[in-house]
Amino acid sequence: MCGIIGIVSEKQVLDRLIDGLERLEYRGYDSSGVAVIAREEIFHSKSTGKLNSLKNKLKHNLFDGCVGIGHTRWATHGEPTEINAHPHLTRNVAVVHNGIIENFAEFKNELLERGTRFNSQTDTEVIAKLVEEKISKEKCQPLEAVRLTIERLRGSFALCFIFRGLEDLLIATRKGSPLALGFGDKENFVSSDAASLSLFSKKICYLEEGDVVALTKDKVNIFDTSGKIVNRDIQILNSDPVNLNKGKFKHFMEKEIFEQPQVISQVLGFYLNASKETLSLPTLPEATEFKRIILIGCGTAFYSCLVAKYWFEKLCGLPTHAELASEFRYRSPVVNKDDLLVFVSQSGETADTIGALKYAREYSKNILAIINVEQSSMARLATWVFPTKAGPEIGVASTKAFVSQLIILKILNIKFASDLSTISKEQRSNLLIGLLELPRLYAEILSKNQNIRKLCKKFTRSNSVLYLGRDILYPIALEGALKLKEISYLHAEGYASGELKHGPIALIDKSMPVVALNPSTQVFEKTLSNLEEVKARKGKIILFTDEKGKELSKDLTKSIFQLPNCSDFLVPILYTLPLQLIAYYTALEKGTDVDQPRNLAKSVTVE
Ligand code: G6P
Repeated sequence: MCGIIGIVSEKQVLDRLIDGLERLEYRGYDSSGVAVIAREEIFHSKSTGKLNSLKNKLKHNLFDGCVGIGHTRWATHGEPTEINAHPHLTRNVAVVHNGIIENFAEFKNELLERGTRFNSQTDTEVIAKLVEEKISKEKCQPLEAVRLTIERLRGSFALCFIFRGLEDLLIATRKGSPLALGFGDKENFVSSDAASLSLFSKKICYLEEGDVVALTKDKVNIFDTSGKIVNRDIQILNSDPVNLNKGKFKHFMEKEIFEQPQVISQVLGFYLNASKETLSLPTLPEATEFKRIILIGCGTAFYSCLVAKYWFEKLCGLPTHAELASEFRYRSPVVNKDDLLVFVSQSGETADTIGALKYAREYSKNILAIINVEQSSMARLATWVFPTKAGPEIGVASTKAFVSQLIILKILNIKFASDLSTISKEQRSNLLIGLLELPRLYAEILSKNQNIRKLCKKFTRSNSVLYLGRDILYPIALEGALKLKEISYLHAEGYASGELKHGPIALIDKSMPVVALNPSTQVFEKTLSNLEEVKARKGKIILFTDEKGKELSKDLTKSIFQLPNCSDFLVPILYTLPLQLIAYYTALEKGTDVDQPRNLAKSVTVE
């Protein structure tokens, strides 16, 4: 899982390869590398760690080639060492790869028997060696060598090759992993995503499964799986390149947390006409067509699905399931023609979610994608698309994208309830108007961020933190725990507070912080009883509640953070914010890499 880029131009390409890689770093940042062809030879440089270390290395290596490839890696096969970093090279070939070759061991053994030596532990080096054999032993032309090689590969790949002695040729291909082309004036580009291409070109197209493309600075020839030259639909990008500016903030995550009041206004402004209390939505299906909803996602997106499950069942009375994409696909789930399948993803590129979507498509046409990146693979695979409009999210731990997913799911929930007449006109207006409260409520909590920051000292001294919530706050407890794990590397567990007595209560002692979410909703008293059980075992409770809840919890704990009163349906959206702040300030306290935490990637493009 990685980001790849290739440029062929009449001008030098190195600086632009690096600019492109900067935009692709969200796909992995264990190591990076570039290769260019100059004076007929392959020049390359690789470095472990973030892209900055490659940049520093390149200060002393001014490669002046006009064709080149670049890579930013999230290790799959082989540790994140310099040897395993891409590009992988042979005498005549340099290649970068996003994906996994499942049958690489088979080829490696064949090649070893023929006397080929390997430097790395990667599956990608096998591809370089196979193409090299075709060129140097079987005297194939580069295009033929690539085509014959990929015919034998199983798994997923987006590959980009350059060749010694060929200063005006780049060959790329894809299967399973996305690849986009950008068209320029006397230059052409290939990259894992459109956002990085938007730096260089507004005119793009996406390759289809099995396509192979040969790019020179003046020409782009796309071949389909049968070898026929084909055209793919050209799209004109209207978005500006991603702004990589943190403004006054120390981290992108901090910026993305603090810009949420504006982001929420932006999302609502896009879909809701406040004065007329009407919705202006993209083309969406009517809920009357479905007997069941299945919501599917990974990580944080899965938790937004879980929140929506409560909403859809309660307001629409429709049976609703929330599914982890990585589990869904392989357990032969039953999908009926009258099911609606809703795929939720910030990136629209998560391999597990795409896999689940492709599986579902075999059984039902009712595929809705709720995505933030509008030019993504999921957008192209779905029947309907409902963009979350949160703007680019750079911090690896999702914040504003999660909140915008919740808002979109709530809007969908209100629309479906209207379709099914399970709410009155008046209830509908109240819900829509209620949503408009959110920016103010978020701003109010953010203005008290320093009080939350003080609480975080308790976490840095602990080995583990428990997050408790009940009913619709259970998924938010899970999300809060995930956020803390992701960026502060502290063990945390989210639990349904009613389940505490069935196991995790054994963990509680005076060193265990317990973050409790308990506003004065219908399950307040039940949760309060669960929290009394924590107190009786000396657990350190940090309570998030509203005014009434605070009054009723005075004897429970001294660590109470009062959140604004709000309608019940806004509770999960509101209680997300303090947990984002806890995760952020704890990571700050611990000095971890907030925006690019170890071992993670923003977009996970392998299964
Ligand atoms: C990765 C990210 C998570 C994200 C998950 C799903 O694991 O680190 O923050 O929630 O992928 O990503 P998606 O783009 O599908 O929402």
